[in-house]
Amino acid sequence: MTHVSLGTADFDPRQFRTAMGQFCTGVTVITTLNDADEPVGFACQSFAALSLDPPLVLFCPQKTSRSWKVIESAGRFCVNVLSNHQQQVSAVFGAPGEDKFRTVEWDPSPSGLPVIKRSLTWMDCTVDRVEDGGDHFVVIGRVQTLGEVLQDKPLLFYRGGYLSTEHPRVTPAQAELENFLTWTGGDTWL
Ligand SMILES: Cc1cc2nc3c(=O)[nH]c(=O)nc-3n(C[C@H](O)[C@H](O)[C@H](O)COP(=O)(O)O)c2cc1C
Repeated sequence: MTHVSLGTADFDPRQFRTAMGQFCTGVTVITTLNDADEPVGFACQSFAALSLDPPLVLFCPQKTSRSWKVIESAGRFCVNVLSNHQQQVSAVFGAPGEDKFRTVEWDPSPSGLPVIKRSLTWMDCTVDRVEDGGDHFVVIGRVQTLGEVLQDKPLLFYRGGYLSTEHPRVTPAQAELENFLTWTGGDTWL
């Protein structure tokens, strides 16, 4: 591992990764088109819903990400939320590669951005703001178009490995849920 300075922190990078790995997330592939209209993208777990009004989302690319440089220059991106059928898609887009789209099927969104087939859903966004985040950037995007939602299970990433969910789910109390941006049970969503 390259040398990392954690300043005054009383833990090492491995302990930090282990702690972060306890937080289970979904997996997305964030895509765009380069100057030659070729599809580009990378696997990204640091995606989150940010705001309902206006509709904002965020993700955090490493400063060294090749895809981020293309997204920055294009000013727009598409978030593909992966289903549990797409572990291999996550593996391909989670590693450096010249032509990651060679092995996946995709369609253009209405604005032309790559939508990977069998994704649970997708959203077309424009880059609204970029903040510094240490060795990452925090990219805030404004959602412009929402894709269809497939009835399938999500791909999850936990402790450095993949898993999926089983139904039925246990949900928190209704009163708590109503404050969540990701709550879809009521008619308050958009
Ligand atoms: C499940 C998974 C989640 C990932 N999440 C992120 C992330 O949130 N941010 C990031 O910069 N890289 C993330 N990566 C790593 C990038 O996908 C990987 O470094 C990729 O090679 C970057 O490609 P690029 O240089 O073409 O952009 C993740 C990889 C996997 C497999």
